[in-house]
Amino acid sequence: MQIFYFYIFNIFNSIIWVMLSLSSENLKLWVLWIFILAFFVSNTLMFSSNKKNRLLEKTKTIDFFIMTNMFMALAYIWTNGLMPIYYRIILSVFVLSALSLNIYVKNNELKEIHQMKSLLDIKIQEIGELHNITNAINSVLDLERLLDMVLSVTVEVLKVKRVSLFLFDEEKENLILKISKGLEKELFNNLKIPAGQGIIGLVARTGRPLLIKDIEQEMPEFYKPSDKNNEYQDKSFLCVPLKIKSETIGVLSVNDKENKEVFNENDLELLNILSTQIAVAIENANLIDNMKDNYKSTILALSNALDAKDSYTGGHSSQVTKYAIPIAKEMGFEKDFMEMLEYAGLLHDIGKIGIIENILNKKGRLTDEEFSIIKKHPSIGADILGGVAFLSDVVPLVKHHHERWDGNGYPDGLKSTEIPIGARIIAVADTFDAMTSDRPYRKGLPAEVAKNEIERCSGTQFDPDVVKAFLKAYNKGNIRVEQYEAVNRWI
Ligand SMILES: [Fe+2]
Repeated sequence: MQIFYFYIFNIFNSIIWVMLSLSSENLKLWVLWIFILAFFVSNTLMFSSNKKNRLLEKTKTIDFFIMTNMFMALAYIWTNGLMPIYYRIILSVFVLSALSLNIYVKNNELKEIHQMKSLLDIKIQEIGELHNITNAINSVLDLERLLDMVLSVTVEVLKVKRVSLFLFDEEKENLILKISKGLEKELFNNLKIPAGQGIIGLVARTGRPLLIKDIEQEMPEFYKPSDKNNEYQDKSFLCVPLKIKSETIGVLSVNDKENKEVFNENDLELLNILSTQIAVAIENANLIDNMKDNYKSTILALSNALDAKDSYTGGHSSQVTKYAIPIAKEMGFEKDFMEMLEYAGLLHDIGKIGIIENILNKKGRLTDEEFSIIKKHPSIGADILGGVAFLSDVVPLVKHHHERWDGNGYPDGLKSTEIPIGARIIAVADTFDAMTSDRPYRKGLPAEVAKNEIERCSGTQFDPDVVKAFLKAYNKGNIRVEQYEAVNRWI
């Protein structure tokens, strides 16, 4: 509105200056006439740019406007002597009013810029969070950890109390609550929604997002008055489908804004971006799972190839793996380590493939020379696996599974913490299985005897911490001896 007053002021201002210039032949007043024109044009521009509400253009026009007004003030002083006193007074009032209004407009403009900057800051923060998610999707391979992180970001960016992610089951009959933030455990466990039912089911069926500001008004068919007492049923919420290519695989839903406001288009846009990222993460995880299954099949094939060659060690590798995993769990290792340990357990004796069969399958005791050949199997195993990129972490475990805590093992005579922790765990599991398995010339030792032997060798052959974890797992019943068919030999 103040722009309109400006406009009126300046018309009057201009009329006075025209009258002045026409009443005098002084050249100075004709120069002023040009300023008047500039003044008038600038105000007109400002008025029209205000209509367009284009911030940048408006700001530039206002700067020009202030400049011309300052020229007017200067011109007033310059021609002071030419005017009668009442003209000077009227002009002073106009110029001062114009300048005050300029300052007022400029202040408003600054406020508007400040507001825009705050909005921009929020947007930049949102983009930053989305960028972090994209990076995480490329670096975090564990889907559960990744989804947990993405949902935390969703809560933060959208300032909501609850977010839930539903995925279709294999039959596509139900939507299962996969992960949630803000839901109580009792609700979280086993929550499933039949496809097509409720708003979640509707979004899954149609594959279209829903922004609901007031469910009672917009979709009364889904609103039950009893829901008023249900703390998990809000009137405003957002639901978007998760899609891989064009197929809907689940639904992402948020509700309960912290500031109690209803959701808007901007929130919907953000949730759409997040849902796309989550769908990419799920697709990546599925691809990685398939890839891992293929790797595992290859590893099992290798392990079976060893069993076929060495009749004494048949089943030994998988048994060692079964003993190693509970030990690692007791030690608090996470999923990635377990996976590596599982591969190492299955492949720890793979080097025996490179040992001639009549030494490997010799009945009776080995000569020193034969034993020195057998002792090469960890290094041969490391060489075989050395060229396989995804097994690079497994190689040191294979190479050092016969090292001893006191440094008297082979092949490198490493001691204590020089030995990779995975290799120290496999050493205990390997020995326990070797002792408890039957040999051609004797029956396997009872589990209790083997356990006591492991305990006795703590601090000499084995890492004391690994032995402690082994004993805990054993006492909990997580390490149980199951006889398997093939005959085993401890090497
Ligand atoms: Fe071995």
